[in-house]
Amino acid sequence: MVFEFPKNFYWGSATSAHQVEGGNINDWSKWEKANAKRLAKEAKEKWQPWQQKRFPEMFNPGNYISGQACDHYNRFEEDFDIAKSLGHNAYRFSLEWSRIEPEEGKFNDKEIEHYRKVILALRQRGVEPFVTLWHWTNPLWVREFGAEENKKFIFYFNRYVKFIVENFKDLVKFWITINEPTSLIMNSYLMGLWLPQKKSIFSVLRIYKNLAQAHNQTYDEIHKIDPSAKVGFANVLIFWESFNKNSILDQLGMRLGKYFSNQKFLNLTKDKHDFLTCQYYFHNRIKFPGKIKNENKEASDLNWEIYPKGIYHILKDLQKYNRPIYITENGLADVDDSKRAKFIKDHLFWVAKSIQEGVNVRGYFYWSLLDNFEWDKGFWPRFGLLEINYKTLERKVRPSAYFYRDICIANGITEDIMSKYKNLLE
Ligand code: BGC
Repeated sequence: MVFEFPKNFYWGSATSAHQVEGGNINDWSKWEKANAKRLAKEAKEKWQPWQQKRFPEMFNPGNYISGQACDHYNRFEEDFDIAKSLGHNAYRFSLEWSRIEPEEGKFNDKEIEHYRKVILALRQRGVEPFVTLWHWTNPLWVREFGAEENKKFIFYFNRYVKFIVENFKDLVKFWITINEPTSLIMNSYLMGLWLPQKKSIFSVLRIYKNLAQAHNQTYDEIHKIDPSAKVGFANVLIFWESFNKNSILDQLGMRLGKYFSNQKFLNLTKDKHDFLTCQYYFHNRIKFPGKIKNENKEASDLNWEIYPKGIYHILKDLQKYNRPIYITENGLADVDDSKRAKFIKDHLFWVAKSIQEGVNVRGYFYWSLLDNFEWDKGFWPRFGLLEINYKTLERKVRPSAYFYRDICIANGITEDIMSKYKNLLE
């Protein structure tokens, strides 16, 4: 064994409803239609020449409309068969609130039936469902009253969660209340990139509070319905460093960044986590006040730096909370699959090292099972273990997915696996 993982480790991948299902009518789908042309136009300033050349679809407004996405809504059994054949024993996905409660207070039994089938399909294949209750999208009526910015959100979200958990408590053990509150806050309310495109520190603070209360209340509510349930939220964690270790200002920038991105929501929801999560994508070396100066020796198609060791520091940081940890997202956009296998191996190396040093990591979910709709960037970034042909909706297993399969099955990385996939790892 090159490195080994604990017994009963969960190996899988993750998706979210709006990014893969297709056919959703919610606040995001509405925003996409209104903004597709603008986003296609702005691609020229946003992306570097090599990216523009490689992904000309970024200039097409259609790229920015989720539409039928991967049609996972109808093809989930096919996708789960593939996931199972790839050695996965867990799958993280989200429920789409706008399907379940399209009008205020009117819950749709047919959609509950649909998600019951989805969860049963996983169970029948021996795949543990990790269910996200809210991955950023809202029914239109929720957006009308201001969604997460309005305190009412807490009441309605809680009522929706109660309904869900009552329906599925016999089938689901792991619940994730909210996906990456800080990514949403930063993109939607500080940088003005995502709907409702605000740049307001007051909104930022209000939403931290509302989402934390929403988490805290639903945490209690879920436990009232099912005391044995395991509840947490999905936390994006950035590895922060100061650009100049001797600069007090850079240190301050680093601490502020770390506090707002990694820490604040955890503090606001203290004691309401049965497990912690880590969604790792970013390393930020910060030069005061807010410039990010990374070396970017290696980068993904989105030009996000690949920095595997960061996950080790983050996991070591989480150790003090004394809770089981699940890595509920980690992945990269890599259309030709030339970096994915090495990316997975290198990140898992640092995860394994943290485990050897006593960190209680119990699962790893690669983002994502499928290529999917990457929010304001649309379809061009390709995160999937499976490649999607968006015209025919055909799924094709990428070579790195077989490498990951062998790791899942071996519950570790062996010399044999390393030599079998030597070509992919160079
Ligand atoms: C989100 C996903 C997103 C992924 C890659 C995470 O922040 O939860 O929805 O697709 O990162 O950007």
